[in-house]
Amino acid sequence: MKILNVALAAVAAVPKQYPEVTLPEMAFVGRSNVGKSSLINALINRRALARVSQNPGKTRTINFYDIDGKMYFVDLPGYGYAKAPKNEREKWGEMIDKYLYNRENLKAIVHLIDIRHEPSKQDLQMYEWMKHYNYKTIFVLTKMDKIKRSQVPKHVKMIRQALGVGTDTVLIPFSSETKQGKEELLAAIQKLTFDEGENIDD
Ligand code: GTP
Ligand code: MG
Repeated sequence: MKILNVALAAVAAVPKQYPEVTLPEMAFVGRSNVGKSSLINALINRRALARVSQNPGKTRTINFYDIDGKMYFVDLPGYGYAKAPKNEREKWGEMIDKYLYNRENLKAIVHLIDIRHEPSKQDLQMYEWMKHYNYKTIFVLTKMDKIKRSQVPKHVKMIRQALGVGTDTVLIPFSSETKQGKEELLAAIQKLTFDEGENIDD
């Protein structure tokens, strides 16, 4: 899957601001600061189209990126930012819930988890919820550049066990710094988004 032209197609807080349901979508979920926006920039080869910040709570709207007119990547606000005021947290929660609840062209979820740590309670809750709604999930284990290469298999195993998923579920160690894992992730996205035989490069 090669990505050539990307544009920010919509910035939405409420459903009427979503783009029309014309293209398949892949949404990126995970706790605040886990690296969702950085991951999207890495995939689309842009340094800062999706806004990134050291401070959690950077992405506060649902941002739809048009990928070569073939699909949308959807950057969501992160969950689990404890320092945000309660009413803000509720607002973000509601925004994400509304989007995930009933988006018919949402093909699958890319769920980001920090490779350094056990999945949090909220990570596990989010995954339960995705299963409940029958969304297929690709797990991306972010910030792999922050651990030693030799430690990667151990961390992958720890997270796989905590999530309770077998080897049929894809877990991709990834770094937005080094771009490790990028090609594998693009291939997995392509496979889940397009029916067999159809190809984004066609
Ligand atoms: P919210 O929008 O708040 O939900 O956060 P986010 O998940 O979009 O995270 P974002 O991409 O803004 O990244 C948060 C911080 O982590 C930034 O300082 C990034 O530079 C850093 N970061 C993201 N991915 C990586 C990575 O793979 N390796 C390293 N070392 N840092 C990363
Ligand atoms: Mg973000």
